[in-house]
Amino acid sequence: MHGTFLSLPATLAILLLSTLTIAYRPLQFVKHTGQSGRADQAFSMVNYFNETTQQSDLYIRMWMFRYKSSNKGWASLGLGPQMKGALMFIIYGDPNSEDKSMTLTVRTVDGHHPPRPMDEMKDFYSGYVPEVDVMTTHFEDYTGDWYSEQLQAKPSHLGIADFIVRGYDKWAAPELAVKNDTTNQAMIWSSNFRQDFEGDFSVERAIDMHQFGLGFGFLWVDLLNARSDVGFFGDINELNDHTGISETAEPKAPTEEELKKGDEIIAAQSGGGSTSEVESGSGEGDSKEAVPEEPVDKEADESTPAPTAASPDSDTSAPGADDGSNVEQPVKSVKQWNIRSMMWHLHGFLMTMPFLIGYPLAIYLLRSPRTSAAGTAFNYHWTVNSLSSISVSIGALIGFTNSRSISITHQYVGILIVCALAVQVVLGWRHHVIFISTGGRKTWMSTVHVILGRVVLPVGIINVVSGLMLRHYGWPAISLCVALAVVEAIVLTLVVGQARKRRPGALQKGPSAPTADEAEEYFQLAGDDDDDEFSDDDDHDEETGRMNAKERAKKEAEREEQRKKLAKLDRI
Ligand SMILES: *[C@@H]1O[C@H](CO)[C@@H](O)[C@H](O)[C@H]1NC(C)=O
Ligand SMILES: *[C@@H]1O[C@H](CO)[C@@H](O)[C@H](O)[C@H]1NC(C)=O
Repeated sequence: MHGTFLSLPATLAILLLSTLTIAYRPLQFVKHTGQSGRADQAFSMVNYFNETTQQSDLYIRMWMFRYKSSNKGWASLGLGPQMKGALMFIIYGDPNSEDKSMTLTVRTVDGHHPPRPMDEMKDFYSGYVPEVDVMTTHFEDYTGDWYSEQLQAKPSHLGIADFIVRGYDKWAAPELAVKNDTTNQAMIWSSNFRQDFEGDFSVERAIDMHQFGLGFGFLWVDLLNARSDVGFFGDINELNDHTGISETAEPKAPTEEELKKGDEIIAAQSGGGSTSEVESGSGEGDSKEAVPEEPVDKEADESTPAPTAASPDSDTSAPGADDGSNVEQPVKSVKQWNIRSMMWHLHGFLMTMPFLIGYPLAIYLLRSPRTSAAGTAFNYHWTVNSLSSISVSIGALIGFTNSRSISITHQYVGILIVCALAVQVVLGWRHHVIFISTGGRKTWMSTVHVILGRVVLPVGIINVVSGLMLRHYGWPAISLCVALAVVEAIVLTLVVGQARKRRPGALQKGPSAPTADEAEEYFQLAGDDDDDEFSDDDDHDEETGRMNAKERAKKEAEREEQRKKLAKLDRI
């Protein structure tokens, strides 16, 4: 009884697995110089769907064979049918270096020229950039069995890069599709043996072109059948040819033999779990007696897996092959950091400060009861605005020089904002001059200045947010900005509302008056601006010592008259 009770869920689990699991065929690319190509590189791929993140990860192992300890050249692999827009992985380094380190750089390019790190290609591609978790990149002495007839030598070193490309199918550069369930994914590879890196193996190092002639090629890759329910780095047998890959057309469907080999590898990877058992139901029955009973116990044993030992012949030459257990802890994430990238962050800083702090503060200072009372409002207003505009100018200059082309909305909007701000400066200044010379007459300029200000500020904040998204700042930073903007909007609305109530016209009606003609009041705000600024102008003048107290009082009275008239006029 107890037994049947247990077996029911077990049966259900197996049934479920059998519907979910698909066959795995090991996928590898191997090319030695002389094999219709001038290259000495290889790679394997495992297509893993991470249920936690609900995205497809590609486990890529890249190899680069080096002869006679050469430190020259690079090897690369690109997701995509052509260089333009391909998600490229490039490795280079010096096998003679002390730490035997090798560089992996993730790049793309907007045409057929040397690719550049992601950060420099934002203008070309600003979509999702897959995170690349690097498990290892290093050189080892070569201990395998490959012997190059062409070079009459064994390789001296093997460069190894194991990395996970998380959400690789979300890469969406123009004219390019990466799919997680295709049997026919277009890819490219290329090699260079000549480039002397002169000791600079940094991630942003400029790379020379690939070899002419046979130093590059196209691939069609069967990612669908490279799918595995466990994430791991596939072994590479450099004595064998490609599997799951074709250089000329869609790869052939997996053979029984390939699938069987895949089953064994998966079984070894998952510690002899139920996957291989279920798979065998579709074809061979030879592993049936192996594991059906105790999947739970197996899980407990998984702490000591020896997957590579169990996988057949394919890993005989893999030096220091990993045991799959280091998959969980990436050594590092590939982060491309350079001057250009730094300039983008500076650009962002110089833009964020004015739009999120400077300009809102300037409006606040103009309308705040405290500064109004102290009569310093206008001085503060133009001082803070000027500083902010200087910051924006420098930021815009940096953005402009750092951009390779003007092609995205963020840039167009940015240019419009800078133009609008230039207009704002002229309007504000002209209005101020006329204001003083006419003894405080409201002009169309003041109205436009206020309205334009109210348009430019939110648009600027939106562009700041779009810039943060372009730079892939996390949601915490972005929501912080949005929250700050919302709080500022509320505070400014209140402060402006208060300033409106302090207006003489409003005071005459009494504090509880504001009702029916809200819209009109809004437009009167333009006049209010002037009013506020007015008293500040006086202070300004006082500071410059051009007016004495008597004249000021007289003028103030005149203005009070005018103010009332204006207010009445506006009501009509
Ligand atoms: C799946 O994604 C989660 C969340 O990022 C991560 O912690 C986990 O290691 C991933 N699983 C594998 C096998 O990579
Ligand atoms: C491809 O990704 C989708 C989600 O984007 C997922 O539902 C599907 O199972 C994936 N297919 C494969 C073969 O991994």
